[in-house]
Amino acid sequence: MIGKISASMMCSDLVHLKDTIKVFEEERIDYLHIDVMDGEFVPNFGLGVDYIRGLRELTNIPLDLHLMVLNPEYKLQWLGIQNTDIVSIHYESTYQVQRALDWLKPFGCKCFLAINPATPVYVLEEVLDYIDGINLLMVNPGFAGQSIVPSTIKKAEKLNSFLNSQNKNDITVEVDGNITTHNAHLLKGFGASIFVAGSSSVFSGEVTDLRKNIRNLKQAISE
Ligand code: DX5
Ligand code: ZN
Repeated sequence: MIGKISASMMCSDLVHLKDTIKVFEEERIDYLHIDVMDGEFVPNFGLGVDYIRGLRELTNIPLDLHLMVLNPEYKLQWLGIQNTDIVSIHYESTYQVQRALDWLKPFGCKCFLAINPATPVYVLEEVLDYIDGINLLMVNPGFAGQSIVPSTIKKAEKLNSFLNSQNKNDITVEVDGNITTHNAHLLKGFGASIFVAGSSSVFSGEVTDLRKNIRNLKQAISE
């Protein structure tokens, strides 16, 4: 099965946003990855409500909303979630993980749980019935351009075996952070099927390189 690309919009050049979206539509990018950051859960501010609203006016490409905010369950109604979107909330961002997932479900989107590099795979055991997917962070979230945390490669393999052992291979695995073509290819072998494409792939170089970069990444995740 061919992998899907979720282009990380925090890496895009705002000056060329319209042209970038046009290329993404022509090249059939699957999702636009939106890093929503509150300066509390992660040490950075990121894309917010007005940006999301503006983007919806530019394109119908579904959004992949990665919520790096504390207590996301109280903020879901701010975001204009659509049923074709993916929404990831973080396991570490709330004391009430199951409740947060319960509150996310009525939005009709795909409900994903994100886990940081230091969070072990076994925490997923009691929420497998609540989620459509897992967003596996390969870096500590908050910034683009970081190097992969080496232990996360082994962790991706562990997650794959864990999901198999639970008969839960229908749960989608997304990988986020330093997804180079090399890492994408490796992680596809461990069952990942959505690849967040940031400065390590699609957004490397100039805006004129976008098309070539997308094609390279597609090739890496199609074998
Ligand atoms: C994590 C972010 C980053 C980024 C991905 O907070 O989701 O992982 O946008 O792009 P690069 O390739 O720069 O890690
Ligand atoms: Zn992200």
